[in-house]
Parts: sequence; C-alpha cells; structure tokens
Amino acid sequence: MGNENTNNFFLAERRRNVNEQQQQKLDEILKKHEYKSNLVIAIMQDVQKEYHYLPEEALCYIAKELKMSEAKIYGVATFYENFSLEPKGKFVIKICDGTACHVRKSVPILEEFRKTLGVTQEKPTSDDMLFTVETVSCLGACGLAPAMSIDDQVYKQVNPDRLEQILERYYEEEGQQ
Ligand code: FES
Repeated sequence: MGNENTNNFFLAERRRNVNEQQQQKLDEILKKHEYKSNLVIAIMQDVQKEYHYLPEEALCYIAKELKMSEAKIYGVATFYENFSLEPKGKFVIKICDGTACHVRKSVPILEEFRKTLGVTQEKPTSDDMLFTVETVSCLGACGLAPAMSIDDQVYKQVNPDRLEQILERYYEEEGQQ
C-alpha cells in the first residue's frame, strides 16, 4: 500500500478519538506489554483479538502512547496479512482453496457459505457481523481435503451439506437458534 493510501487513512476527516471504554481496554493491553514499542505486533494482535480488526482510532491511540509515528503503525498493520483494517465478523471462516482442496471441490463449499450468509468476495462479512468468509491457500490438512476453519477449529472433509450443521454451534453460541 502506497503513501497516498497511508495519507488517506490517517488524514481522513472521519478520524475519531477512542471512547472511554476503548481507552480503558487499550490501556489494559498496553500495560500488559509494558508500553514497549518493540512489542507493537503483540499489542496489535491483542487489539485485533478484542475488536476482530484494528480500528483506526485504536491505531492512532497506540501510536501516541508508544511514541511511534502513525505511519509506522499503519505500515505494520498493512504488512502482516493477519491484521485487518476492516471490521470483521465475530467468527472468521476460512475456506481452503489450495490445490488439494480445490481439486476436491472447495469452490462449491465457498459458494454455499457465501450464499447462506449473504456475503461476497467484495463484502465478506455478514450483515449481523457474525461471520466473515475468507479463502486461504492451505490449512495443513491436505490429506483430508477439502478443509476449512472457523477461528481455531479446523473442519476436514467438508461438503456443502455439512454447512448448516457446522454453523449451528456458532449460532447457538450467540443464542440465535
Ligand atoms: S490445500 Fe487445503 S488444506 Fe492444504
């Protein structure tokens, strides 16, 4: 991502300050890492764990507290592909589309998830902010392809018919079924 985007990101008029609740949480995270700027990645990982993405105002606050430039923080956020600057759903679904999974029909699984959750490649997060659907190139379960994961749970030998059953426990967790 180039300088223009960096500027757009930080100079946008919509830039906001953290609210009291966010500040409390961010202070907690910063304190845990002793406000050490060399631990910025671990700090950002904790922020992402909390919010499921890196809110712009949180990045600005962290930069200020760690006495780092906003551009540097933004550089870290965009360098690592596990960091997201866009809000994600509570549960992140990763459908593997590596070679082993692709030949065992991962695409129909991806399509079925997208259709069921009303998401697309361009809009990967469901309207209720529960699920984000992404693709990955390997989940390390090639022998039992096709594979997918939801957060840390890996599902093997998946087929579109199992989709409802897989999603059920996450809806249950949310008290939606
Ligand atoms: S290619 Fe899908 S798990 Fe390896």
